[in-house]
Amino acid sequence: MADTYDLVVIGSGPGGYVGAIKAAQLGLKVAVVEKRKTYGGTCLNVGCIPSKALLHASEMFAEAQHSFADLGIEVAPKLDLAKMLGHKDKTVKANVDGVAFLFKKNKIDGITGTGRIKAAGEVEVTGEDGTTRSLATKAICIATGSAVAGIPGVSVAFDGTTIVSSDDAIALKTVPQTMIVVGGGVIGLELGSVWHRLGAKVTVVEYLDKVLGPMDGDVSAQFQKMMLKQGLEFRLGAKVTAVEAADGGARVTFEPVKGGAAETLSADVVLVATGRKPYTEGLGLQEAGVALDGMGRVEIDAHYATNVPGIYAIGDVVKGPMLAHKAEDEGIALAEILAGQAGHVNYGVIPSVVYTSPEVASIGKTEEELKKEGVAYAVGKFPFTANGRARAMLHTDGFVKFLTDKATDRVLGCHIVGFGAGDMIHEAAVLMEFGGSAEDLARTCHAHPTLSEAVREAAFAAFAKPIHI
Ligand code: NAI
Repeated sequence: MADTYDLVVIGSGPGGYVGAIKAAQLGLKVAVVEKRKTYGGTCLNVGCIPSKALLHASEMFAEAQHSFADLGIEVAPKLDLAKMLGHKDKTVKANVDGVAFLFKKNKIDGITGTGRIKAAGEVEVTGEDGTTRSLATKAICIATGSAVAGIPGVSVAFDGTTIVSSDDAIALKTVPQTMIVVGGGVIGLELGSVWHRLGAKVTVVEYLDKVLGPMDGDVSAQFQKMMLKQGLEFRLGAKVTAVEAADGGARVTFEPVKGGAAETLSADVVLVATGRKPYTEGLGLQEAGVALDGMGRVEIDAHYATNVPGIYAIGDVVKGPMLAHKAEDEGIALAEILAGQAGHVNYGVIPSVVYTSPEVASIGKTEEELKKEGVAYAVGKFPFTANGRARAMLHTDGFVKFLTDKATDRVLGCHIVGFGAGDMIHEAAVLMEFGGSAEDLARTCHAHPTLSEAVREAAFAAFAKPIHI
């Protein structure tokens, strides 16, 4: 006799586990099927959380080396990599255990094994020992996330130590002397920063002629200058055509995108960070008749429903940015819809943060997008060099930039490069969620002295004039 549920979620990443908790809170009987031994998916186990533990620790190490002396603190920091990795592992454990606790608290059945959709209303789970059990359910949510995509058209033999993906780049046992990062996107710059701060000479090879491709042009240009100043090297407009093991390390061959002679660089470790792809393997989607789109993503309508009634999908496995918080919001919205409420995600107001030093945070439209759409816009910009708190903290790199509708002053986008950008961006997020204007923000009293005053000043700059510059 099969167990019977209102909702079976396949995958316990931020989309799946958050959606499951919300559904349980709304009174649904919920099970989550997870093939990893721990809950939390890529984000908690090998992605956002471990990388942030290493980014924080390596940032402290770099500050102790390069900035403490300017604050009158003399230290000679010494790296204990094993302990730093231990900090990362403890952080991961606390978070994945936290999800297990929340499942118990919300009476969600967490089931370890690989889920396969037999048909609408039935999920088969295969355990590690090969035994199977069947779950009967009113609704199925596919929340299986994404996997490392590799380099389009290039066969890469990942070996976990010299040719690595982000999964292994968070667990290198020694600091490589040299590292090549293929892909100047989010993962490449975050993990490239970690190993650079810990002592590796890092070269980023990127296809586009800019890093952080989708970001506002101003932001990526200034940010790249900051990364260069920190010591990272860049080969832009370079298409990687081969990654091979060689002489105990690996070599990368690339050619100018505009045409020209190919070049080869060697390093102890090559990190391939050229994107992720939706993970649908072994789910039985074809047999169940679930349609995919042209990019291999599960096709959904505005209510996360696939073409098969009773089967839904959220997160990295569907369209939209591959971001944990986007998946979480979709999980919540789907749970609300299944419970008969009005679930909704505002895709125009999803922040995006790169956790480098300084951080980069972005929400809404970029200047390039507004130009392309022919929108008449105003720009308000304010640098952290003119912010008192930033000076006191020696964190004067970067700026806040608002993009507003020229006629109405409504905020259309906000882009921040600077210390704490990932937290400050939410000031713009709330404002945009309420359709607010730059003047609304600028006329809101901000505590002094804070970095957030730069956000207010940039808002002032968009519709009038900033005070402190
Ligand atoms: P990405 O899409 O951000 O960057 C990949 C880069 O590789 C692109 O700039 C692309 O032009 C380049 N590339 C592709 N083929 C190439 C070739 N043959 N030669 C040279 N360069 C090439 O992908 P990434 O960094 O792997 O991240 C994967 C996903 O995970 C993204 O969707 C990202 O948003 C998400 N993520 C988000 C984080 C955050 O929000 N902080 C952190 C880590 C990942």
